[in-house]
Amino acid sequence: MKLLVVGSGGREHALAWKLAQSPRVQLVYVAPGNGGTAQDERLRNLNITDPAALADFVEQEQIAFTLVGPEAPLAAGIVNLFRSRGLKIFGPTKEAAQLESSKDFAKAFMKRHAIPTAEYETFADVAAAHAYLDAKGAPIVIKADGLAAGKGVVVAQTLEEAHAAVDMMLSDNKLGDAGARVVIEEFLAGEEASFIVMVDGKHVLALASSQDHKRLLDGDQGPNTGGMGAYSPAPIVTPQLHARVMREIILPTVRGMEKEGIRYTGFLYAGLMIDAQGNPKTLEFNCRMGDPETQPIMARLKGDYSKVVEQAIAGTLDTVELEWDRRTALGVVLAAYNYPDTPRKGDRINDIPAETADSVTFHAGTTLADGKLTTSGGRVLCVVGLADSVRSAQSVAYETINQISFDGMQYRRDIGYRALNRKHDVKTDGKH
Ligand code: AMP
Ligand code: GLY
Repeated sequence: MKLLVVGSGGREHALAWKLAQSPRVQLVYVAPGNGGTAQDERLRNLNITDPAALADFVEQEQIAFTLVGPEAPLAAGIVNLFRSRGLKIFGPTKEAAQLESSKDFAKAFMKRHAIPTAEYETFADVAAAHAYLDAKGAPIVIKADGLAAGKGVVVAQTLEEAHAAVDMMLSDNKLGDAGARVVIEEFLAGEEASFIVMVDGKHVLALASSQDHKRLLDGDQGPNTGGMGAYSPAPIVTPQLHARVMREIILPTVRGMEKEGIRYTGFLYAGLMIDAQGNPKTLEFNCRMGDPETQPIMARLKGDYSKVVEQAIAGTLDTVELEWDRRTALGVVLAAYNYPDTPRKGDRINDIPAETADSVTFHAGTTLADGKLTTSGGRVLCVVGLADSVRSAQSVAYETINQISFDGMQYRRDIGYRALNRKHDVKTDGKH
């Protein structure tokens, strides 16, 4: 069978790489793909981004199913379009994707269904927003309602920063329509984790737990980014916490959407904040997999993933049991010069080591032209190491990175530090 993955990042490279391992799969198209997907002979880049043109291609080529990576095509309704043409696709409809594409929708939904999340109010009026900030004080969090490619959230430590964020979004329209309304919410302290599941409309299948590192610099300093590294499993997600998140957050979300007449299908990603007492709250929903979380998660997943996605599309996820590599997978993002502001493009990338049994490098912002690999985006590569402990997985990843270079390459040296700071370097049970 032939498959299609929509997107061009590290997440999509990892998904396509995993799907292509199936003996049933002849070829995985990646639209538009990147330099890494161009180099892999089991994958083929497809220079089409228009959803209707993609649907035409899928019909002509008799693609068995399509898997969508990023939020933008989902929010634009690619799943609605494919389904209306009778094509198999895994992802949420435009209506279901509102859980990610509108923070106000997600917050109001959580409130209606008593799903734990930070207290909030939504504003379109500048004066009312400023007054609310003064009443609440700092620290406080300001979020653009719409999709803003990771630039829509300001965690303000002072009221001055908070007022500036409201002005930036509501008065100066720096984020366009996405910032025409803002959610202002309570600051939550604690540790974050990514909780990602597959949903077939009714049944929920949890993927392995993971944790991302959103800040640019070591020790979680510097500006927010799309994610500078991730590992799986996340020791903070104990079996008890896992059960609680399913019971209090994931299942009420899927059931709540169903009650409101919006059947949820696709990946559902709850960004969690876990407080010092171990209580989880929902920071946000994403209607897709995480990037870079997907890279270590796919590196640990065993078995034929094409069959899992087929079951998800068929609505029979209750019959699927996933098996995970017991090892920890730890991925470090290598970013371009000046990421995240205005990353430089066109730097030549040297010597990416071949995949081994315990390391694999996924591409994101890379382009292959005339046999030469160059940088073409902010997050360039994600180098994943696999080993029996977080510390050893970290060593494998950083040893691999030592063999890679490009001008301006920047990366964090401390990916996995939260897991290492816990008392025991946890061995996994192969189930999470
Ligand atoms: P979001 O896109 O909503 O996940 O926000 C991006 C990042 O901002 C999160 O990963 C958190 O690090 C931080 N953040 C968001 N909401 C809050 C909150 N209520 N309290 C503290 N930090 C937050
Ligand atoms: N790594 C965070 C995200 O994918 O949203």
